[in-house]
Amino acid sequence: MSVVAKKIAEFSCRSSWIREMFEEGARLAQVHGCDNVFDFSIGNPNLEPPEAFQRVIEELVRDPTPGLHGYMSNAGYSQTRAAVADYLSGDQGVALTGDHVVMTCGAGGAFHVILKTILDPGDEVIVPSPYFVEYAFYADNHGGVLRPVPSGPDFDLDVQAIAAAIRPQTRAVLINSPHNPTGRVYPTESVVELGDLLRRASAESGRIIYLVSDEPYRRIVYDGCKVASVMAAYENTVIASSYSKELSLPGERIGFAAANPSAAGIDALLEGLVLANRILGFVNAPALMQRAVARLQGVSVDVAPYRRNRDVLYAALSEAGFEVFKPQGAFYLFPRAPIEDDVAFCRELQQHLVLVVPGSGFGMKGHFRMAYCVAPEVVDGALPAFREVGAKYFGG
Ligand SMILES: Cc1ncc(COP(=O)(O)O)c(C=O)c1O
Repeated sequence: MSVVAKKIAEFSCRSSWIREMFEEGARLAQVHGCDNVFDFSIGNPNLEPPEAFQRVIEELVRDPTPGLHGYMSNAGYSQTRAAVADYLSGDQGVALTGDHVVMTCGAGGAFHVILKTILDPGDEVIVPSPYFVEYAFYADNHGGVLRPVPSGPDFDLDVQAIAAAIRPQTRAVLINSPHNPTGRVYPTESVVELGDLLRRASAESGRIIYLVSDEPYRRIVYDGCKVASVMAAYENTVIASSYSKELSLPGERIGFAAANPSAAGIDALLEGLVLANRILGFVNAPALMQRAVARLQGVSVDVAPYRRNRDVLYAALSEAGFEVFKPQGAFYLFPRAPIEDDVAFCRELQQHLVLVVPGSGFGMKGHFRMAYCVAPEVVDGALPAFREVGAKYFGG
């Protein structure tokens, strides 16, 4: 007798890679001791939130003003939305007001609010491969279908491939920069080219094709890399973002959706986002966190420890013979596996007590993903294993 819906049973099988590796890491740690297991399976930031967060929270919990724990507008506190809009205006180079921002339960919550608002049953959401595995589930939750298209060289956007995938059912193109799982930051020219394509395609089909931009890693960049403004590139853009990574607060579930003020039918779009936040059962983003992030705009973790991990891993993997793109942002590496069967290769690394996730889990076989938001000892401890497998496969 089936306990859960067929779809959920099928999704459970498909979605298991990251969790499976994470749980295997916990099991191995029990057997071999934490210090001997090198777990790169999950993008859970190891850095503590910045000190300013602690100070702000302590002040906020002592605030005796009545009503601070009650419901508020489904869009969030107007003060918080104004603060987010103010920061975003500078960041995107487009003037937003608080009305263009809806506070959400993380970027994941923002996606649900956005997709609920724009998708009709059967609508397609194009995404460059590889991609964050949850996107397929998010689209399906709202009757949509994810349509992966190949990326270009070095995981850049392949705008021609996106153009070729556009059909009457296409409702959105979803991009993520800095990118999970590759660490790619899309150059401004690629984003502008994509905006031009979507403008043309929307005009031709008579139906808006949205650009949905996933930006929780926006402030985690290296070597002065600049993240393009999606709102300057295209009017029908909605951003999903959060403080999960830049403030190391993934458990607090605080983020936002922001719509471009120049989007067609902006009032209806915003009304849809606010309603979706309510009827999806989020109701509103966590009150305390909204008050905190209002005072922390522009604050983020120091990326130096991530950069150090990136540099050490990139150098060691390259030296061992692996083909790997040097990440420009976020905290992931996506090397090519030395054998086509990425799952078998991840199992082999497991024998060395190194936990990574097969590229298949991100829609791209033949690679593996490493989340390097870990202590430096984890990185250093894993290097002998990479040297050993590198010598085996590449003779290095
Ligand atoms: C690319 C990407 N988008 C969205 C999310 C979800 O972020 P949040 O925890 O804010 O919902 C993640 C989390 O790892 C992510 O890597």
